[in-house]
Amino acid sequence: MPPAVERPVIRILTLFPDMVRTVLETSIPGRASRQGLVEYQVVDIRDFAVDKHRTVDDTAYGGGAGMIMMARPVVEAVESCRRDPEATVVLTTPQGETFDEDLTLELVAELQSRGELILICGHYKGIDERARELVVNREISIGDYVLSGGELPALVITDAVVRRIEGVLHNSDSAANDSFTAVRGGGLDCAWYTKPEEYRGLKVPDVLLSGHHALIERWRRENAAGRTRDRRPDLDLPADGRREDHKENQ
Ligand code: ADE
Repeated sequence: MPPAVERPVIRILTLFPDMVRTVLETSIPGRASRQGLVEYQVVDIRDFAVDKHRTVDDTAYGGGAGMIMMARPVVEAVESCRRDPEATVVLTTPQGETFDEDLTLELVAELQSRGELILICGHYKGIDERARELVVNREISIGDYVLSGGELPALVITDAVVRRIEGVLHNSDSAANDSFTAVRGGGLDCAWYTKPEEYRGLKVPDVLLSGHHALIERWRRENAAGRTRDRRPDLDLPADGRREDHKENQ
């Protein structure tokens, strides 16, 4: 694999640039760009409309309810910002492959090797199939429900990807044992407590107050594995609570 690009760019193509910019300036994604670890380019698809009303959608050929995003503004918006013709161009759509942590890591690798990742926020009933054919090479859904637009999915993807760029998370972000990470064997995170030791009669488990690090670690591992089995049996953890594909990274 080629060396990682120093300051990769995530380009988000949207009909609601202000909505997207606000989120990108906030929290960890905002800090990452201020630190120069990633850059964001927000492209307004409407800038690629050709009429004075800046029209970007129209009714479907053949009839039917709902508006379709026109091919031209989408394709030309991509072509205006794409630097690498092989770059990954994602369309957010409920019809795409389901987003998860493995897909996040794939996108991080593509972002770092190509230097860019392009996310098109779908809207209305969908986009003209020709735009898909011409510029989209990946379609991603963030779950089996329908949102009003692709901005939130694109921001979800961006947040998940940026967190995984090396140097973005600090120790204080304590992400090493997040759910779905290697430390959790691909399963869920454990329960966490902070002060006070007792709240409305509910006490922090004694072991966490014991100062005995090995016992605390064991409790956390067991608690995490138990939660995973109870809440997400579909993750199918073996008896030791660690999925095979997450063992080598421990
Ligand atoms: N656009 C509308 N709903 C969506 C979803 N669930 N995932 C991705 N894009 C979408």
